Amino acid sequence: VIPVNTPLFDGNEKRYLAECIDSGWLSGDGPFVTRFEEAFAESVGRRFGIAVSSGTAALDIAVEALEVRGLIAPTFTIISCLQQAHRRNVRPIWLIDSDPVTWNMDVEKLAERLKGGTPCDTIMIVHTYGLPVDMDPVMKLAQRYSLRVIEDAAQAHGLTYKGKPCGSFGDLSTFSFYSNKLVTCGEGGMIVTDNEDLAEECRSLRNLCFQPEKRFVHERLGWNYRMSNLQAAVGLAQLERLHAHKSRKRGMGHLYHHLLLHMGLDNIVQLPQRFVGADENMFWVYGLVLSERHKANARLVIDLLHDLGVQCRPFFCPMHKQPIFAGRFYGENYPVAERLYERGFYIPSGLGITHEQQRVVAKAVCEVLG
Ligand SMILES: Cc1ncc(COP(=O)(O)O)c(C=O)c1O
Repeated sequence: VIPVNTPLFDGNEKRYLAECIDSGWLSGDGPFVTRFEEAFAESVGRRFGIAVSSGTAALDIAVEALEVRGLIAPTFTIISCLQQAHRRNVRPIWLIDSDPVTWNMDVEKLAERLKGGTPCDTIMIVHTYGLPVDMDPVMKLAQRYSLRVIEDAAQAHGLTYKGKPCGSFGDLSTFSFYSNKLVTCGEGGMIVTDNEDLAEECRSLRNLCFQPEKRFVHERLGWNYRMSNLQAAVGLAQLERLHAHKSRKRGMGHLYHHLLLHMGLDNIVQLPQRFVGADENMFWVYGLVLSERHKANARLVIDLLHDLGVQCRPFFCPMHKQPIFAGRFYGENYPVAERLYERGFYIPSGLGITHEQQRVVAKAVCEVLG
C-alpha cells in the first residue's frame, strides 16, 4: 500500500539526536528547545517562539492565554481548534462556512456575521490544505471590531499570504510538527507571537503554571505541554531543510496536477487551486473534491482506492456536525463545508513520496473515478 504520508529525514536529525543522548539532556528546557524556538520564530518573522508537545496543545494554550470569551471560527477544521473553547464554556462560538474554491473560511461570510453584531472577542483562522486564508480583510475586520486573532498555521509551514509568512498574522499563531507536516518531530507544536507578555503567559501555561519564586504553589492551572529536547533536535534539523522541503512539496503538487489534468480528471473532480493571487499553493496535501456529477461519495472512492493499494484520507468533518457539540450551534447552514466533507479526500502527499508512486496513485484515481 502506498501510505497517505511518508516523512523525509534528510538532514542533521541523527546527529542532533546523538548530541542529546551524549549530553544526557532529553527532557524540556534543553538547549535544542531554545535553538528550535528561536530559529522557528525567526523563520516566520516573529519575536518569540514557545515550543509545545503538539499543535493541539498550542491551540489549547492560545485560547487560554487570550482568555477567550466569544469565538468565531471556521466549521471546516479539526477538533483541536474548538476543544479548549468548549471546555472553557465559551459562548458564543460562531462557525463560518468555507469558500468553495479555496476551501478556507469564507471571509465575506465572516464580514456578514460580524456586521450582524456577533458578541465575540477572538477570530480563529485556519490555513487549510496548502492555501492561505484571505488575511487582508480578516485583519481589517479584526481591527474594526477590536478582535484578537488566533492563526492556526498547523498546515502552513513555508506558506505565504501576499508574500508574508503564514504564522506572522495572529496575536498568537500556532503550528504543528506531526509527522505529515513540512517540519516534523513526530509530535510537537509551536506558538509564535510578537507580544512579550503573551509569550510569558504561554510559557507558564505550557509548564503547569509553576511560579518562579514559589514553584509548587499555584494560582492558575496549566498543562505539562513541554516539548522534549529530543523532539526539538529533530525539529531543528527539519527546519534547516524547510527550503528544500517546500520545493519538494510543490513539485509533488505540480506532478499530480499534470498527471490528473492529462487524464482529463478535472471534468469529474475539483483539483486544488494552484495560486491565490501571487501566493502559490504549498500542496500540504493534494486534495480532490468529487463533482456533483459523480455519483460516488468520498468514502466509497477511498475504499476502492485502498483496494488498489492507495491509502487516502477524507476531508475534515465540519465542527457543526460533531456529536460532541450536538445542540451547541444552530440557525446557520454550512452547505460548502458539508459538500467538502461528503465529496473531498486527499491522496498520498508526504514529502517522501516518489514520482513512480505518484504515477501509480494517479492511475488508480483515474481507474476508480473513470
Ligand atoms: C489545522 C490543524 N490544526 C491543528 C492540528 C493539530 O495538530 P497536532 O496533530 O500536532 O495536535 C492539525 C493537525 O493536523 C491541523 O491540521
